[in-house]
Amino acid sequence: MRRRFDPTGPLRGTVAAPPDKSLSHRAALLGAMSVDPVRVTGYLDAADTSSTLVAVEALGALVERRADSLTIRGTGLRAAAPAAGTIDVGNAGTLMRLLPGWLAGQPEGSWTLDGDASIRRRPVDRIAEPLRAMGAGIEARDGRFAPFTVTGGPLSSIEYALPVASAQVKSCVLIAGLLASGETTVIEPAPSRDHTERLLARSGVIVRRAGDRVTVCPQDELELGELRVPGDPSSAAFHVVAAVLVPGSRIVVTGMAANWTRVGFLRILERMGAVVVGELEPPHAPLSSDEPITELDVAHGPLTGTIVEADEVPLAIDELPLVALLGCFAEGKTVVRGAAELRVKETDRIATVVDGLRGLGANIEATLDGFVVQGGGWLRGGVIASHGDHRLAMLGAVAGLASREGVEVDGIEAAAVSYPGFEADLAALLGP
Ligand code: S3P
Repeated sequence: MRRRFDPTGPLRGTVAAPPDKSLSHRAALLGAMSVDPVRVTGYLDAADTSSTLVAVEALGALVERRADSLTIRGTGLRAAAPAAGTIDVGNAGTLMRLLPGWLAGQPEGSWTLDGDASIRRRPVDRIAEPLRAMGAGIEARDGRFAPFTVTGGPLSSIEYALPVASAQVKSCVLIAGLLASGETTVIEPAPSRDHTERLLARSGVIVRRAGDRVTVCPQDELELGELRVPGDPSSAAFHVVAAVLVPGSRIVVTGMAANWTRVGFLRILERMGAVVVGELEPPHAPLSSDEPITELDVAHGPLTGTIVEADEVPLAIDELPLVALLGCFAEGKTVVRGAAELRVKETDRIATVVDGLRGLGANIEATLDGFVVQGGGWLRGGVIASHGDHRLAMLGAVAGLASREGVEVDGIEAAAVSYPGFEADLAALLGP
């Protein structure tokens, strides 16, 4: 489906950040591992997180969906049911990479996971390697892609140094660690989002973080209790950038997660000169079982280019396409490096972002591990394809509002993977 986004007057008003995708996936998965019912308010109602609910139902959990909340009645940590067929993860990389950590530690059974065309291009060897080292059986297509089969069995504990900073891989190993024979430690090359650690700590698991090491102890039961999912900084970022780029704009974003491992993008934005007021969790805050929330006040303003280095990348990984767009409007050069991980997202986001923005008139070059944008202060516009990637679809929409000639987004429906209300929320900020 094609949709045009024309240059617009200022964005004004208040928008509630939609529920966080990462936390919703984790709430459903940890809820399924619990025995006591887990009530979740603000669960994200989107394609990706629906895949997770359907998956946990296939594994024996009951999910009661109500208008404003859902209740998950899990199976307990060691009693995932045999699934009737293949578990369809849809487009959800987080589901594909976290769920095997749980399945691998089941006393018996085999489960096959598969997904859409994008999922079938995304590597699973990154989780297969540590899970095999713990004793799990994993058979993947060509050794590294979905469909793949996980066979449960006894797991030994492990100390695992992640080859790349990935919250998904870290979470997979930590979840498997709950079912292992002793303490399991993951060593991160750079900090990545820590929602799994926080939720496990909240569920009664002993979780320790010391420098770049995270350790979990084996556990009999999880007690997650009630959970309220905060707003998603990655979804809110599209409105934030629209407000920064469109002259005269001023918006307020409410209810957004302020977890320091998720707001690296706002730090980059501030460095580029944008005025974003709001309290964020301080970098490297001690591990907590809470997810702080914040309110942002964002206004239009001039930008200067910046350099994003490797250690900042995991803290802003899903917002880096927006850094490319901001770079087009900034004075001077904007460089992102150490971000080769972008190549294994829903699309190869170095290629799709660079080609897409270049098609709109941007002066942007791909590098092996990022991109370089020469800011021109404006963007012409044109047509951009989402390639089925939700973040590319929303990037195109925001580019259109700030462009000179407007942007037609081919495949706007992909936004529903993480943010079905995106267009409506944006329209509300644009006014009548
Ligand atoms: C996610 C982690 C990140 C991110 C993805 C969600 C998560 O992926 O890009 O959108 O919920 O853990 P990686 O862990 O592969 O970097």
